[in-house]
Amino acid sequence: MQALRRLFVCSLLISCIRISTTTALDTITPSRSMRDGETLVSAGGSFELGFFSPGASKGRYLGIWYSFDTDTVIVWVANRETPLGDSSGVLKVTEQGVLVLLNSSNSMKWTSNSSRTAGNPVSQLMDSGNLVLKDGNETNPDSFLWQSFDYPCDTFLPEMKLGWDLVTGLDRYASSWKSTDDPAPAEFSVGMDRRGLPQVFIMKGAKIMARGGSWNGLYFTAYPYPPQNTALEYEFVLNKDEVYYEYRLLNTSMFSRYMLTPSGIVQRFRWVYQTHSWELSSAFQADQCENYALCGAYSSCSINVSPICACLKGFVPKSPKDWNLGYWSDGCVRKIPLACSSGDRFLTYTGVKLPDTSSSWFDKSMSLKECNGLCLNNCSCTAYANLDIRGTGCLLWFGSLIDIKEFTAGGGQDLYIRIEASELDRIERKSTFKKKKLPRILIGSAVFLVFTIALILYIRKRKLRNQGVRSIDCTKDYLGEDREDMELTPLFDLSTVAKATNDFSSSNKLGEGGFGNVYKGTLIGGKEIAVKRLSKNSGQGMIEFKNEVILIARLQHRNLVKLLGCCVQEEEKILIYEFMPNKSLDFFIFINSLKFSSDQEGQRLLDWPTCFHIIGGIARGLLYLHQDSRLRIIHRDLKASNILLDNSMNPKISDFGLAKTFGSDQSRGNTNRVVGTFGYMSPEYAVDGIFSMKSDVFSFGVILLEILSRKKNRGFSHPDHHLNLLGHAWTLWIQDKQRELIDTTLYDSCNISEVLRCLHVGLLCVQRIPEDRPNMSYVVLMLSSDITLPPPKQPGFYTERSVPESPSRKRPFSVNYCSTTVIEAR
Ligand SMILES: *[C@@H]1O[C@H](CO)[C@@H](O)[C@H](O)[C@H]1NC(C)=O
Ligand SMILES: *[C@@H]1O[C@H](CO)[C@@H](O)[C@H](O)[C@H]1NC(C)=O
Ligand SMILES: *[C@@H]1O[C@H](CO)[C@@H](O)[C@H](O)[C@H]1NC(C)=O
Ligand SMILES: *[C@@H]1O[C@H](CO)[C@@H](O)[C@H](O)[C@H]1NC(C)=O
Ligand SMILES: *[C@@H]1O[C@H](CO)[C@@H](O)[C@H](O)[C@H]1NC(C)=O
Repeated sequence: MQALRRLFVCSLLISCIRISTTTALDTITPSRSMRDGETLVSAGGSFELGFFSPGASKGRYLGIWYSFDTDTVIVWVANRETPLGDSSGVLKVTEQGVLVLLNSSNSMKWTSNSSRTAGNPVSQLMDSGNLVLKDGNETNPDSFLWQSFDYPCDTFLPEMKLGWDLVTGLDRYASSWKSTDDPAPAEFSVGMDRRGLPQVFIMKGAKIMARGGSWNGLYFTAYPYPPQNTALEYEFVLNKDEVYYEYRLLNTSMFSRYMLTPSGIVQRFRWVYQTHSWELSSAFQADQCENYALCGAYSSCSINVSPICACLKGFVPKSPKDWNLGYWSDGCVRKIPLACSSGDRFLTYTGVKLPDTSSSWFDKSMSLKECNGLCLNNCSCTAYANLDIRGTGCLLWFGSLIDIKEFTAGGGQDLYIRIEASELDRIERKSTFKKKKLPRILIGSAVFLVFTIALILYIRKRKLRNQGVRSIDCTKDYLGEDREDMELTPLFDLSTVAKATNDFSSSNKLGEGGFGNVYKGTLIGGKEIAVKRLSKNSGQGMIEFKNEVILIARLQHRNLVKLLGCCVQEEEKILIYEFMPNKSLDFFIFINSLKFSSDQEGQRLLDWPTCFHIIGGIARGLLYLHQDSRLRIIHRDLKASNILLDNSMNPKISDFGLAKTFGSDQSRGNTNRVVGTFGYMSPEYAVDGIFSMKSDVFSFGVILLEILSRKKNRGFSHPDHHLNLLGHAWTLWIQDKQRELIDTTLYDSCNISEVLRCLHVGLLCVQRIPEDRPNMSYVVLMLSSDITLPPPKQPGFYTERSVPESPSRKRPFSVNYCSTTVIEAR
C-alpha cells in the first residue's frame, strides 16, 4: 500500500515535470528577456526563477525558489537591497553578456556585473538552482561568465561552494535576511576564515558568534562524530587555488538545504515527499558551549558540569574573583611559565573540540611524532594535534588556546597541550593518586555521599521554594548524559517559536498542562504546530521535559504524536509538536449526549466506525511502545485527554513526560513516586507503586469503557449504586445486561457484535490481577479477529471510593520531584 502510494506520488511528480519542460523555458538571451509575471523553470523542474514579494513586503524581488513547493522557499535573491516598487521589472542579458534588472523607467536595480564578455551570451537556470551566465558557443559546460552560486544569500544548496577562490579573491559566504519580509543582508553570516587552518565561523557583524571549526579530514571539529547522514556527501577542498566546503546529495530525487535564519542559527531542512513539506533535520549552535570563546583562553567548556567553564590542567583563572562570579572571558594563565627548550612536555586531552585554529600552522604529511618534535622545538608553539582525525598530518598552535569544548558523550579529538615538565609531573602524580584511592573512597562513602547530596538537595529545594526561587539544582545538568539524544532533536530558535505563537499570546493558548501551557503556532510557510511551554518558575517539569525529548525523539509510529523539535534558550524549555486540529479524545467522548448546548456539540459525537478506528489506533500505538520500539516503554499516564486526534481522526498518544524506559528483559518496576491520573491508574500502581506494561493495559481498558459508555470512570455516578464505571460495567456483565452500558448515541451507527467485543476486551484489560490482563499484542489480536475470548474476572478498583482522594491535585503523590529522583534507583 505504502509502496503503491509512493509510486503514485513519483509518477505524479514525473508527469508534472514533463509538463513543465514542455511549457517553460530555462534560458534568456539578449533577444528574449523575462518580465515580472513570467518565470524560468530549470530543465528537470526543480527550481524556478521569477519575481516575488516576501512576507508582508510590497517590494518586488528577483529570486529563485523550488518550483514544486507551494510554500515558496526562496533560496536566492538578486536585488536583495534594491526592491522594485511595482511589477514592471524586467531581467535582461545585454549583448556584452551582463545580466541586468531594470525598472519601467529603464533604471538599473541590479546587475551581475561580470567583467568578462561573451559573443553569444545566454543565461540559464540550472537544475541545481544555479543561475548561470555563459557563452553559448563555449564547449566547456563548467565555464561560466557569472553564476549565482558565487553570491549566496541565506541558503546553502548542494554543490554550492562555501569558501574562497584564492585566485580571484572571491569569498562565498551566506548572510541572513534582515527578517522574513526583507531579504537585505543582515548582520549574521556564515563563512570560511582563512587564517591558519581555515575554519567555518558564524559571525554577527565582525564578532565571531560560533565556530564550526576546521575540517578534520571527515567533518568539522564542532561535531563530536562524523555525520550519520547517508544521503549526503561532504567535501572540503584546500589547495593553492581554492579553499571551500561543499556537500552533495547522493540521491538526485531528494532535496536538502542549509539556511541561516535571521537570528543567526544554521538549520538544515530536507524535503519530505509524503507530507509535501520541509522537515528540520538538524541545527547548529545547540548549547551554551557553542558560544565562541565563552570561557576565555586556556580553558575548556563542558555543558555537563557546573560551572561549565574550567581552566585546563596546569592553569589557573587570570582574574579569580570574576571567574568565580561566572565572568569567564579573561580565561586562565599558566601556574608555572613554560621552560621552553629546557624542559616542557605535553599533557593529552582526549575527546575535545580542537581550539581556534586562526593562529595555527599545518602540514598534511607529517606524523604525530614529528609534530611533537616540531612543537617542542619552537618556544611559541602551545599545542599540537593530528591534522586528520584518521591519524595523519600535523597541526600546531601558536599563542593562546581558545574555544576548547569537551564532548560529553564521547567523540572529538586528542589534543596535546604544552606544560612545564615539573608541573606536568605534579598533575600526573595527582591523577594516579586519585585513581588508586578512588575505589576505597567510593566503597567507604558512596552511601553517605548519596544521602548527603539528597538531603542537601531536599533542604535547598524547600528553602528555594519557600523563597519562591526557581530550583537550579534540578535543571543545571538537564542535558547530562543524554545530550546525544537531545542533539537528535531539531532545535528551534526562541524567536521563531515566539513569532509563530504571537509571542505566546493568550488567544493562541490551547490548554494548560501539568507543567505549563500549550499554544497553537504557525510557522513561516503556514505549517501549524503545537507548542508546549514549560513554566519557567518551577523546577518541576525539567525531568519530564528531558524524558519527553529523549523518548519521543527515538519513537516513530503513526499512533504516537510527533515531536518536531525543542527549544532550550533563555530559561525557556519548549517542546514543539505537530498540531492536532481535532484536539483530544476526551473532548469528543465526554459530552452529555442528551442535552447538547449547541448543534456544534452534537456534531462532535463520534459514530461507531470512528470509535472503533480510534480504539484500534490506540492499541497499536501502545503495542509499539511496549513491544515493537527499540526501547520498552511504559507510558504511565494514558488517559482520554492524552489521546490526540489528527485531521482524519487518527489517534496519537501524547505526553511522555512520565514514561519509563525498561530494558527488554525487565517487565516491571517499582517507584516511590506514584504519578499518573486517578481513574486510569491500576490498583497495584496506585497503591504499591508497581508499574508494568499491564498497568498501561489497565488504563487502556478504562479508555475503552469510557468510549463505549461516554462516561468518565472517575466521577461516574449512578442512581442505583455507588460503584465507579468499572464496577458498573462489571455488574451489568454478570447480570448479562452489557448493552445497557453502551451509550445510546452509538447505536445508530454501530455493529453491535463489534461493540460488545470491545466491551469484553475492555473488561479483560481492567481485571484486578495484572497477570490476568492480556498484553497489548493479544489485545490487538482480539480486536481484529473472531477468536474466542476468555470470560473476564472482577475488575480492579471495583469502587473508587476506597481510594484516598485528593481531587484538587492531579498528581497527588508527586510532591518533590527532584529530590526523590536522586534517591530513586534507575
Ligand atoms: C526606477 O528606479 C529609479 C532609481 O531607483 C527611480 O528613480 C524611478 O522612480 C524608478 N521608476 C519607477 C517607475 O519605479
Ligand atoms: C560592479 O563592479 C565594480 C568594480 O568591480 C564595482 O565598483 C561596482 O560597485 C559593482 N557594481 C555592483 C552593482 O555590484
Ligand atoms: C557562435 O556560434 C554561432 C553558430 O553556432 C555562430 O553563428 C556565431 O558566429 C558564433 N559566435 C561567436 C562569437 O563565435
Ligand atoms: C531516491 O529518493 C526517492 C524519493 O525519496 C526514493 O523514492 C528513491 O527510492 C531513492 N532512490 C535511491 C536509489 O535511493
Ligand atoms: C616558531 O614558529 C613561528 C610561527 O610559525 C615562526 O614565526 C618562528 O620563526 C618559529 N621559531 C623558531 C625558532 O623556529
